[in-house]
Amino acid sequence: MRLGVCYYPEQWPQDMWADDAARMAELGISHVRIAEFAWALMEPDPGRYDWAWLDLAIETLAAAGLKIILGTPTATPPKWLVDAHPDILSVGEDGRARGFGSRRHYSFSSETYRAECARIVTAMGERYGHHPAVVAWQIDNEFGCHDTTLSYGADAAARFRRWLATRYASVEALNRAWGTVFWSQIYRSFDEIQPPNLTVTEANPSHCLDYNRFASDEVVSFNRRQVDLLRCLSPGRDIVHNFMGFYTEFDHFAVGRDLDVATWDSYPLGFLEMFGGSNADKLRYLRQGHPDISGFHHDLYRACGRGRWWVMEQQPGPVNWATYNPAPLPGMVRAWTWEAFAHGAELVSYFRWRQAPFAQEQMHAGLNRPDNVLDQGGLEALRVAQELKTLGDLAPCRRSKVALVFSYEADWLTKIQPHGRGFRALFLAFETYSALRRAGLDVDMVAPDGDMAGYRLIMVPTLLVLSDEVVARLAGSGAVVVCGPRTGSRTPEGHIPANLGPGPLQAHLAAKVVRVESLRPGADPKLVLDGQTYDAKLWREDLETCLPSRAIFEDGKPAWVADGRWHYLATWPGPELMDQVVAHTAAQAGLAITTLPEGVRIRDRDNIRFAINFAPEARPAPAPEGVQLLLGTRNLAPGDVVAWRID
Ligand code: GAL
Repeated sequence: MRLGVCYYPEQWPQDMWADDAARMAELGISHVRIAEFAWALMEPDPGRYDWAWLDLAIETLAAAGLKIILGTPTATPPKWLVDAHPDILSVGEDGRARGFGSRRHYSFSSETYRAECARIVTAMGERYGHHPAVVAWQIDNEFGCHDTTLSYGADAAARFRRWLATRYASVEALNRAWGTVFWSQIYRSFDEIQPPNLTVTEANPSHCLDYNRFASDEVVSFNRRQVDLLRCLSPGRDIVHNFMGFYTEFDHFAVGRDLDVATWDSYPLGFLEMFGGSNADKLRYLRQGHPDISGFHHDLYRACGRGRWWVMEQQPGPVNWATYNPAPLPGMVRAWTWEAFAHGAELVSYFRWRQAPFAQEQMHAGLNRPDNVLDQGGLEALRVAQELKTLGDLAPCRRSKVALVFSYEADWLTKIQPHGRGFRALFLAFETYSALRRAGLDVDMVAPDGDMAGYRLIMVPTLLVLSDEVVARLAGSGAVVVCGPRTGSRTPEGHIPANLGPGPLQAHLAAKVVRVESLRPGADPKLVLDGQTYDAKLWREDLETCLPSRAIFEDGKPAWVADGRWHYLATWPGPELMDQVVAHTAAQAGLAITTLPEGVRIRDRDNIRFAINFAPEARPAPAPEGVQLLLGTRNLAPGDVVAWRID
């Protein structure tokens, strides 16, 4: 368990570097990520490389004993490259090329850009690939950030057509798959097909789905090209990428398969502000972050990294990019760091060493203030570094007893046809995860094609395309399986299945979805479980079934049915109902749940249990009487952490 920091030597006078490096080491930082935006400095003019500054930066950091994570600078193609090859620019849905002057202005589909990336990565790999201080490479930076996964230019269109030709072999097969007989959309050849933008009203959903699949594959192959080069040029180093929060436009499991470690950028307050649900939650957790937002992503990226994962960028103070940017509660930077370690992180690296006094992120805090005085985040990093020494290293997380199946494709489908505003597979997964965590359960995220064996409880919040193979794996797991609304409601082409939803699940659970409806806020469905009424929201399905109902809608129709260990929910449960679903199904699976005080979360790693208080009030630590605490005290202040040994 190590600490790291993101550092931009090129943004500071060289006479500061040695002092920076010494102070990082003194603070307890072992890893430094550099260079991921510095292409214009590495290659100031086409073909003229300037490595002197980077050589010096690397030597200076290495001399202080720091290990280096070197970023490939491909998120920021320099001006001369854009001017020489304007075709590398990504094209927005409005059909206009994106401009120079920020970052991520390239298209994943540009062959020219792919070749240019291969060139700069090769040059970097040749120069630094064997440097003893270089322990890892980060490919690019935050694929897809600022809405850049999908591009609609000529290169993307051409590669999409090739992708379609491979997938469908004949245009007749494509016409059938997309249902182009509808509205006279029939194509006579692959050459006639365009990306699905600039249509008068919504484009064909199967076309959109394939475009999303294609764009995701483009990210995978773009990343893989750099990975392949660096595997040869820099053997033995970890190759990583830094993923984002609440971002689903490409399949992160697929990109993760080419990496050694999945990393992600954790900004708990920014995410709460931008995605955190109700205004009440945004106010309640204003300075602590939502209790489950980081955990959800920690567990998701642990799965994408096949067990190995890091936080590459940890929020150190106020960020600059959310609608409002509050400062974390004192202690929170430390708590977030421990939370990541509790979920199995090998490394937590802060963004950034020092706040920049200029340019786009001048309002973004660092571990140090712009005047180079250690800021609150820096003090907390120092504290964690000291605590790490007393706690020692912990083994990776063990396999949990509960799995949550997460599908990127399901999220694309619900974005393409939400049917009711706000229906996103991502947020249904998040709310399901949150209920499991409120019940004190550790959760493993699993891809639809992932290993499901051995789990006791498997939640499938929604998996629109449900294949027979996934059903077979769910069946083979022996787990109690809970499927949410819209599961099995689409074929791989994006059609309603011939036997209606939940499609192949009907082999195990005799219920058929004969109608769906979405409902605006205020008209949310209510349902009755064990004589009590609960809120659901947004979505309701009519089930044709002879199965007994666990819960019914207010009009008496089935809302939750079960057939042995198979459960199906015909609505999007509100939090109290979600808690009931977890309690009932966990009991059936033989799992003990712990009702945690509001805002408190627990997580086990190795033989240590960590508890963190995200509530703005103090809470009693959920530690057994008499047990010796390794961190913290029995009075868990807001933003505090406590840890103790378990059997
Ligand atoms: C991340 C990005 C960093 C920096 C940071 C600010 O999305 O990777 O380069 O912009 O946000 O919070």
